[in-house]
Amino acid sequence: MREIRTLVVYYSRSGHTRAVAEEIARALGGAEVEEIRDTVDRSGLRGYWRSFRDAIRKRTTTLVNSGRNVGDYDLVVVGVPVWVGAPSSPVRTWLIAHAGEIHAIAFFLTHGGSARDRVFRALAALSGRSPVAEVSVRERELGTPEASARIAAFADEVRLWMSSAELRSMKTEKAPVG
Ligand SMILES: Cc1cc2nc3c(=O)[nH]c(=O)nc-3n(C[C@H](O)[C@H](O)[C@H](O)COP(=O)(O)O)c2cc1C
Repeated sequence: MREIRTLVVYYSRSGHTRAVAEEIARALGGAEVEEIRDTVDRSGLRGYWRSFRDAIRKRTTTLVNSGRNVGDYDLVVVGVPVWVGAPSSPVRTWLIAHAGEIHAIAFFLTHGGSARDRVFRALAALSGRSPVAEVSVRERELGTPEASARIAAFADEVRLWMSSAELRSMKTEKAPVG
């Protein structure tokens, strides 16, 4: 049976989405992890306002090329901080660049408490795919048992999808020729 390859890819300006990405990768039994790296300095107050303006104008940015072939993965789990009711610009850029290579997708986002559903809809539109699972964590919930329980439930849903994808690939491999 062919193993389902999973990539957890995320952007994080201040560490929240990174923490959730690491927890998800552990829950998925060591999925590969890639941090989306921006060439723009978004640190400090200047970086905050730059990010704010970029989000309002739905601007893309220039990312550091990871050299990874996204099409090699059966499932990509994308992690996103919410910026001004929208996906952060680095994730918007990454999705536009890779949408055509993605086979299946799941989303997780971190936020201050607003715009969750709007951002999930925007992510589905940008990727052109309905997610196999999605989860959100508010910044004040980070590290709490409630957040961990939701992340574990998300990982369960993803693993269920992975099992059925494995079964489908087994059937395809065994299908008689002709
Ligand atoms: C420029 C900017 C705009 C933000 N806008 C929102 C927002 O509209 N709604 C919200 O709930 N949180 C908003 N936040 C808070 C972040 O979504 C939240 O802190 C998130 O967890 C940050 O993730 P990170 O530490 O991985 O960068 C904003 C943060 C930044 C930097």
